[in-house]
Amino acid sequence: MQVNRFNSHLLCSQFAAREIVQALKKNKYLTLCMASGHSPALACEWLVRYIQEENIDYSGLFFIGLDEWVALPAANPGSCYYSFLHWLIKPLQLPETQYHLFNGEADNLEEECLRMGEIIAAHNGIDIMLVGIGMNGHIGFNEPGTPFNTLCFVAELEAVTVDVGKKYFTQTEVPNRGITIGLGHLTEAGAVYLIANGEHKAAVIKQAVEGEVGTGFPASILQQHKNAFVLVDEAAAGLLKKE
Ligand code: F6R
Repeated sequence: MQVNRFNSHLLCSQFAAREIVQALKKNKYLTLCMASGHSPALACEWLVRYIQEENIDYSGLFFIGLDEWVALPAANPGSCYYSFLHWLIKPLQLPETQYHLFNGEADNLEEECLRMGEIIAAHNGIDIMLVGIGMNGHIGFNEPGTPFNTLCFVAELEAVTVDVGKKYFTQTEVPNRGITIGLGHLTEAGAVYLIANGEHKAAVIKQAVEGEVGTGFPASILQQHKNAFVLVDEAAAGLLKKE
């Protein structure tokens, strides 16, 4: 695992976007999986910008959404679906053949998980993941205690995740379950970029990077990933040991 520190969240986001563009130039058939939430939003904006301004061929790109809130309508502006629709799918006019997002309203969520697993397998795994980190160290909706080899599953969310999740919604009720790609797929991914910004993320970044590796703190899995990068602005890096 490598830690890359930046003077600003903008520089951090531009770096992540540039990495994806470079990978796309090397491999036209790139499978990209991204978290929604606040952390990767700017990177996604810059990814679209670089692709459009530099006329990058993305006809072989396949995009996968990392997770979704269970039972939340896709049209809710707090849904991951809604974010990706507006951040990426619409701006790039991605056809349905080039992306797959969880349906959090599916009648059979187990089938929804299997389907995602099949889609990942059909693409020979995920090439690049861009993820955030939750206030309990979660990645996607892999909450503390999730075994590192877990595939797609439906997660019961911890109170802190539900509580922090209020920031995405206008309604007061936040879903207490999430459907997510598991840490087993992350382990197999070609490269993982975790992006974090702000002082409120400093403690969880310290634990992810310098703490003990274990399921009690899911993001610690990155320490043992073959190709993981933690991208942080100064504030999020604030508690890390000096280099
Ligand atoms: C969202 C997701 C979550 C977030 C995490 C951080 O799709 O996968 O794990 O990445 O909760 O959220 P933000 O970036 O809003 O601080």
